Amino acid sequence: MHFLQAFLALASFVALAMTAKHEMIVGTFPGNGSEFLYTLEYDDAAQSLELVSKTPTSAVSGWITFSHDKKNLYGTDWNAEQPTFVSYSVKNATTIKQEASIVGGEGCSGAKSIFAIAHPNPPYTVYGNYFYGDAKCGTVFSVDENGTLDGIVQNFTYANGSAVHGAAFSTDFEYLYSADDGGNCIWTHYVNDTTGELSYPASTDAPSKGSDPRHIVAHPKGHYLYVVLEGSSEVAQYETDRWGGLTLKGTWPLIKEGENPSDFWADEVALSVNSKYLWASNRARNIDQKGYISVFTLGPKGEIKDQLELTQTTTSGGFANAVAPSLFCDDTVALTDNSTGFVQIWKRGEGVKAHVDIEDGGCCANAVWYS
Ligand SMILES: *[C@@H]1O[C@H](CO)[C@@H](O)[C@H](O)[C@H]1NC(C)=O
Ligand SMILES: *[C@@H]1O[C@H](CO)[C@@H](O)[C@H](O)[C@H]1NC(C)=O
Ligand SMILES: *[C@@H]1O[C@H](CO)[C@@H](O)[C@H](O)[C@H]1NC(C)=O
Ligand SMILES: *[C@@H]1O[C@H](CO)[C@@H](O)[C@H](O)[C@H]1NC(C)=O
Ligand SMILES: *[C@@H]1O[C@H](CO)[C@@H](O)[C@H](O)[C@H]1NC(C)=O
Ligand SMILES: *[C@@H]1O[C@H](CO)[C@@H](O)[C@H](O)[C@H]1NC(C)=O
Repeated sequence: MHFLQAFLALASFVALAMTAKHEMIVGTFPGNGSEFLYTLEYDDAAQSLELVSKTPTSAVSGWITFSHDKKNLYGTDWNAEQPTFVSYSVKNATTIKQEASIVGGEGCSGAKSIFAIAHPNPPYTVYGNYFYGDAKCGTVFSVDENGTLDGIVQNFTYANGSAVHGAAFSTDFEYLYSADDGGNCIWTHYVNDTTGELSYPASTDAPSKGSDPRHIVAHPKGHYLYVVLEGSSEVAQYETDRWGGLTLKGTWPLIKEGENPSDFWADEVALSVNSKYLWASNRARNIDQKGYISVFTLGPKGEIKDQLELTQTTTSGGFANAVAPSLFCDDTVALTDNSTGFVQIWKRGEGVKAHVDIEDGGCCANAVWYS
């Protein structure tokens, strides 16, 4: 590297590291009939969190996810009669526009869209999952030149009784792993890298009866996969092999000793920005009880070393208590609540650093960091 290049790289790194303001977009549950996508700004220097704009949406996107370049947001649609996904363009964190909506769910009846994940490589296919009713189907969507959802590449089914609530790619994007809450198992599909289509399904049992895998994330080194178990209030760690096979390597609780998993419904598992920590969260079913946020340290290959924290959240979390690690610091995450409607910033070992109430009904589903 030339001196100038090195200097410029360093200068831009310093500039990035010194930018204190970070934006996120937060989705919505059905509220009082006027739902929004919320844009929040967190100032890491002042440790202040602010609601900066509300984008009205007809869709009620209980789950949102970015495209690889953050120019599009894909969301579920609670309000739609048929299982539908919506596609928003994102010019910047406050200029968000609904561009398309597309009905999937072929082979399912009475199901709703519940989750989507976008492939980061061409042809940038988007994978949709369903819940409620008969939800055994999955859909692979194509996108147009601008990244807007525009067609169906593949309709596929898991198994009778399946209801997949979350999915994640392997490190090399060769496999898609699906957390099957209804079927109590984890699916591995091979991803065709030219078409985005899925093939060669294989399933691995969840750790125990009724453990109910909900969300899933793979460590970038390619050796481990972590699953949040909604039914048993646990995080499970699986070792992966090069053919997408999974071997259970232990579970860790997301409740305190003596508490009953049936009083909770564990929500999320996610890696911090540099994969230094694994974050997880749990919701209490009763609004008078509190949920949990947890942090694990990971070893060099991604193996869980230690459960650093299992801390009560300030509320039950309602339908959310979804943890969303920031893009700028392994120690900093957002946490959403819909028991009253708020977003908080938590720091590892320090608890809540910032809080903003958004009590207009519907807020707050999951958060995605924009910057
Ligand atoms: C986004 O773009 C709009 C229109 O160009 C502008 O008014 C607004 O200030 C921008 N917002 C941010 C957060 O940059
Ligand atoms: C998927 O199912 C829809 C009906 O819901 C149908 O219109 C479409 O042709 C199917 N696509 C493929 C690729 O099978
Ligand atoms: C992509 O966006 C550009 C600029 O807004 C627009 O002119 C073009 O028609 C869009 N393409 C499609 C397929 O919608
Ligand atoms: C799945 O359910 C359908 C309808 O109930 C039934 O016809 C079919 O045999 C079942 N498939 C399997 C593999 O059990
Ligand atoms: C991917 O799909 C294409 C088009 O259907 C097919 O020609 C190719 O063999 C597939 N690749 C693999 C590895 O299955
Ligand atoms: C929280 O979300 C649930 C599920 O969508 C909804 O029924 C409830 O009204 C929401 N609560 C608030 C306070 O928005």
